[in-house]
Amino acid sequence: MQQPKAQRKKINSMKRILILNGPNLNMLGQREPEIYGTHTLDDIETLCDQKAKALDFKIDFRQSNHEGELVDWIQMALKGYDGVVINPAAYTHTSVAIHDALKLLKIPVIEVHISDPAKREAFRHHSYVASVATQTIAGKGIAGYGEALETLNKLLNS
Ligand code: DQA
Repeated sequence: MQQPKAQRKKINSMKRILILNGPNLNMLGQREPEIYGTHTLDDIETLCDQKAKALDFKIDFRQSNHEGELVDWIQMALKGYDGVVINPAAYTHTSVAIHDALKLLKIPVIEVHISDPAKREAFRHHSYVASVATQTIAGKGIAGYGEALETLNKLLNS
């Protein structure tokens, strides 16, 4: 059965946000809890769902361990998306391909890290994503994802 017209209109006018998570983030909960805490990726998705509901965003939440798949999804954001939140995980520090793909986008991109890579090993100090992101949020735990959605809300309504 089709949804009522008013509801269809609302869904069509909602901002669409792509939330991407890179390698090993599917292991949150068991992965280095002293650094990343004990929340799982499902907990992050729930947090994002709740925040999206409050902000009237329609979100598409994904995770991949594969660089090319993340590149494909970033390219997909060229069509019909209003903003991107990305935690590129280890690819932050290695991926020119993800840098180049993000450079294609004309919509705001928020880079998120659960930990603060600047306070960790030297190999985490450089981000290939920061220069093509609108803003970077790091070291705020999983709350950083909520802050990223709020930041997008401000940017998209200004
Ligand atoms: C991370 C930080 C990266 O250095 C690391 O490789 C990750 C997670 C974070 O969310 O703190 O996998 O992006």
